[in-house]
Amino acid sequence: MSEGVRGGNAWTRPAAEVVALLTWAERFLERSGVPKPRLNAERLLSHCTGRSRVELYAYPERTLREEERRSFVGAVARRSRREPLQYITGTAFFRYLELSVDPRVLIPRPETEMLVERALALLRGTGGHPLVVDVGTGSGCIALSLARECPAAVVHATDLDPRALSVALENARRLGMEGVVRFHLGDCLSALPEDMRGTVDLVVSNPPYVREGDFQSLPPEVREHEPRSALVAGPRGTEVHLRILREALSWLTPGGWLLMEGGEDQMGELAVVARDMGYVEVRVHEDLNGRPRMVEARLTPRDGFT
Ligand SMILES: C[S@@+](CC[C@H](N)C(=O)[O-])C[C@H]1O[C@@H](n2cnc3c(N)ncnc32)[C@H](O)[C@@H]1O
Repeated sequence: MSEGVRGGNAWTRPAAEVVALLTWAERFLERSGVPKPRLNAERLLSHCTGRSRVELYAYPERTLREEERRSFVGAVARRSRREPLQYITGTAFFRYLELSVDPRVLIPRPETEMLVERALALLRGTGGHPLVVDVGTGSGCIALSLARECPAAVVHATDLDPRALSVALENARRLGMEGVVRFHLGDCLSALPEDMRGTVDLVVSNPPYVREGDFQSLPPEVREHEPRSALVAGPRGTEVHLRILREALSWLTPGGWLLMEGGEDQMGELAVVARDMGYVEVRVHEDLNGRPRMVEARLTPRDGFT
């Protein structure tokens, strides 16, 4: 007979253990204000037992080992304090990659997968071995995805935060991509070797874009656990975008592209500034919910070339 968790509802049949644990965790997480409490409970139990969510339901008669039960209770307690699920499991999925994440880096967001999709479309229009730079790489999700999905590209990535860069390097190593992406510690594009100036085919970035004044209204998962330096750009929210727009003018090759993610209320300003700076083919792309989230701009191609 299973001993089980005795947080109020004890049970006697071993077959009920998985279901009872999930029900207990779901209620506990719901009371703590965690969105989608059942899904969170399932993911955590799956993580702590090494069984898929399908297996948990398909073989509910399997009992848990004591350490699995203890680890699950600990994980649920952490999630109830609004620690993000991905920091507890240590893993985030992004496109075709399974990445390690921890509080040193922003958890990659699904909408950033669209940035990669658009970057790949732009790279398809370039020949040879296009030179790509991901500014503010964090976990390395954009740079590693581009290198994996466009093997002809030569990919560089920068980040101002050495702790974030360590995570990106660890991810490259774990994915067997060590040396495939070249990582540089430093500010925006100035972190790159000087001989790359004027040669870059694509600058891509998901920079910090939260306004200082909006920080307190972010969900606790974000505000209290993700790195503030990955989120907040300054009083306006577009400070890092504007720096990248300005700097990219001297790093892009003629006809090279700049592609950045941002907040929906920032796209109009960024498109206007890009045109004022002399970029051409400036476009704003919407996400799957129809919200403007990506700005794209091109450095004027050399006469006679496209
Ligand atoms: C919003 S996170 C994006 C991380 C990752 N690219 C992603 O999409 O999940 C922004 C990243 O930019 C880095 N960053 C902030 N300011 C920077 C700067 N001036 N130069 C380079 N990186 C910067 C932060 O350390 C953080 O890793």
